[in-house]
Amino acid sequence: MRSPVGASLLAKAAGQTPQISNLPALPQSPYNRPLFPEGTPLVADKRYSCIGLYNPKSPENVGSVMRAAGCYGVASVFYTGKRYERAADFVTDTKRVHYDIPLIGIDDLKKILPLNCVPVAVELVEGARPLPEYTHPDRALYIFGPEDGSLDKEIRDWCEDVVYIPTTGCMNLAATVNVVLYDRMAKGLNTRSGPKFR
Ligand SMILES: C[S@@+](CC[C@H](N)C(=O)[O-])C[C@H]1O[C@@H](n2cnc3c(N)ncnc32)[C@H](O)[C@@H]1O
Repeated sequence: MRSPVGASLLAKAAGQTPQISNLPALPQSPYNRPLFPEGTPLVADKRYSCIGLYNPKSPENVGSVMRAAGCYGVASVFYTGKRYERAADFVTDTKRVHYDIPLIGIDDLKKILPLNCVPVAVELVEGARPLPEYTHPDRALYIFGPEDGSLDKEIRDWCEDVVYIPTTGCMNLAATVNVVLYDRMAKGLNTRSGPKFR
């Protein structure tokens, strides 16, 4: 009986293509698939939202915001200030969302604005636009003030839009984040570019 190597050499010598049908099948790998299925545009025009927390007061506040971020598919969460430290215990983030969604400390929220992303201040102030009538940007960075303060004028002026929720008195920080993200989700494809974005 000829060995498979011997058979292959013989076939080569005879000018034939060696038989490869007996080779073992490749193991199923997650990489054995087209990276871009046919028709996939390379620039994705994908909607996303990020959150910016201006000097949040406590780990509880941030934990609750992280939980909301996980529920509504937020891309990343940024925070400023020293009152809250990343090593803090996330008592309110019971789903451990901070392992899945980047939580990044920065000295100035203006430094992290992604390209073509619209900064939106969320604050209960005169002149803000009511959230129920607001058309969300395709790519948005929503910025919220701290539990024990408000967004100052400088950051509101830097933002493209300022929106408020018409409540009687202000909500707590995490409640506000949930309402804004719910409103964005409920409006579905109705962001500024419409269904062009996915
Ligand atoms: C608890 S509130 C701040 C406290 C408030 N400035 C006060 O008078 O005590 C925390 C943050 O939640 C947001 N917020 C709360 N209620 C809001 C509302 N009705 N509309 C828009 N933003 C709101 C703002 O970003 C605010 O800075």
